[in-house]
Amino acid sequence: MNTQALINTASALVAGDKGLLAMDESTATCNKRFAALGIPQDEEMRRDYRALLITTPGLSAGISGAILYDETIHQRTREGTSFLNVLIDSGILPGIKVDMGTKDMAGHPGEKITEGLDGLRERLIAYGEMGARFAKWRAVFTIGDGTPSQSCIETNAQDLARYAALCQETGLVPVVEPEVLMDGAHTLEQCSAVTEEVLHEVFSQLYAQRVMLEGIILKPNMVLPGLTCPQQATANEIADATVTCLLQAVPAAVPGIAFLSGGQPAELATLRLNAMNVRFKSRLPWALAFSFARAIQQPALEIWAGQPEQVAAAQCALLHRIRCNQAARRGDYNALYEHP
Ligand code: G3H
Repeated sequence: MNTQALINTASALVAGDKGLLAMDESTATCNKRFAALGIPQDEEMRRDYRALLITTPGLSAGISGAILYDETIHQRTREGTSFLNVLIDSGILPGIKVDMGTKDMAGHPGEKITEGLDGLRERLIAYGEMGARFAKWRAVFTIGDGTPSQSCIETNAQDLARYAALCQETGLVPVVEPEVLMDGAHTLEQCSAVTEEVLHEVFSQLYAQRVMLEGIILKPNMVLPGLTCPQQATANEIADATVTCLLQAVPAAVPGIAFLSGGQPAELATLRLNAMNVRFKSRLPWALAFSFARAIQQPALEIWAGQPEQVAAAQCALLHRIRCNQAARRGDYNALYEHP
């Protein structure tokens, strides 16, 4: 394992005010998002859309790394340049989602386990040889009646740690993504308690599997009330709850925390990240960054809607969200960014 190279890559992913562009939707998820907008769901349209994202002029000013999906990492633009080369040539680190998705957990109604460890070492080696510099694995936890169970937390955390250890062995930085889902009526406090418990278990398993913490990125949920909780929270309350929770559970050796958006509206995700950096940035051991998919792509996807003449406008919308999130990293985002 080249320890220094892993540290350098992890640090580069959260450097300055940049963040990650998550564009690693599985084919099924990408098709679902296309279907909602009446976009044909075929490989060519998925290729055109992902090409739109990665060829956005000026993308690398705000994006340090892009997380690809297996189909995408093998694709080329219409002009014939591989997506990997487009990213590398523009100074963006290519990453790859390597989990095989979530499946029902046997004996645990309503809970999911993430699959993908079988053959993972060989897949990581192959992705590394292609040019990938980091990888991502997502586990999900649902807050409900008796969930998440201890066994769901332990099993998913151990799998995340085994994945992370394999990544580092093959020279890829693991992006460790334990996501406590927003679905449900739980309170902010319940989300905080569950997120803290999950993160404690994840870091305990990372330690047990001898993962070098300086060479990972954590990609957690923000601490939020459930979508149907009657008592919603302000951005400042969410910032306080999230950072308080992370301080309890995330070791200082971790270089950066890059949040997922989890279905939050784009502007709210930005506002909440900004509140965290305004209130805590100077006192934190790790960078607080973004690794959004929906909260960074959705406006662009809606503008494009499958129409070639809309590519430039969609790229503008993507750049706009990136700039807003860069401002949130610096802690100087405000309403003028959205409505100048
Ligand atoms: O695994 C999920 C993505 O990497 C992040 O997606 O920002 O839409 O939650 P999201």
